[in-house]
Amino acid sequence: MPKYKGRGIAFGVDEKAAGDVVRAARSKTSKPLIVKLSPNVTDICRIAKAVEEAGADAVSLINTITGMAVDIENRRPKLSNVTGGLSGPAIKPLPFAWVWQTVSTVKIPVIGIGGILTAEDALEFLITGATAIQVEQPTL
Ligand SMILES: Cc1cc2nc3c(=O)[nH]c(=O)nc-3n(C[C@H](O)[C@H](O)[C@H](O)COP(=O)(O)O)c2cc1C
Repeated sequence: MPKYKGRGIAFGVDEKAAGDVVRAARSKTSKPLIVKLSPNVTDICRIAKAVEEAGADAVSLINTITGMAVDIENRRPKLSNVTGGLSGPAIKPLPFAWVWQTVSTVKIPVIGIGGILTAEDALEFLITGATAIQVEQPTL
């Protein structure tokens, strides 16, 4: 959902739009609906609450964080798209904070994502309140 754009906004960063998308999906399926949340928001709890009220069965967080890198030799962005999604160990403290905030806000399960490389990382998420975790398949 965070990467699906329409009418000029990313649904994942607007609580009304996020709720509308989840309600539409909920009306079409009785299968489990896990809604992945974007970290590029001011208050992730508001989005989590909106999608819970719209019928999500669980939320997972976080998606990548918008980042940028600059080549100082040619004074240009290193990424052809200028900005891109930051992930991996560098971001791990951030999903901890947001998972912790989200589990205090919603009653549905919260799946932790971000920077998980070891069993210890996974346990830290579970201790923080996540019901489950997601580990990204490395690109070979
Ligand atoms: C190469 C790559 C591709 C990704 N593609 C998607 C995608 O298509 N949809 C999505 O919701 N998240 C996508 N993500 C985000 C991951 O699912 C995950 O939320 C994020 O990378 C943080 O977790 P990590 O630190 O374990 O990688 C992608 C991440 C990477 C590294």
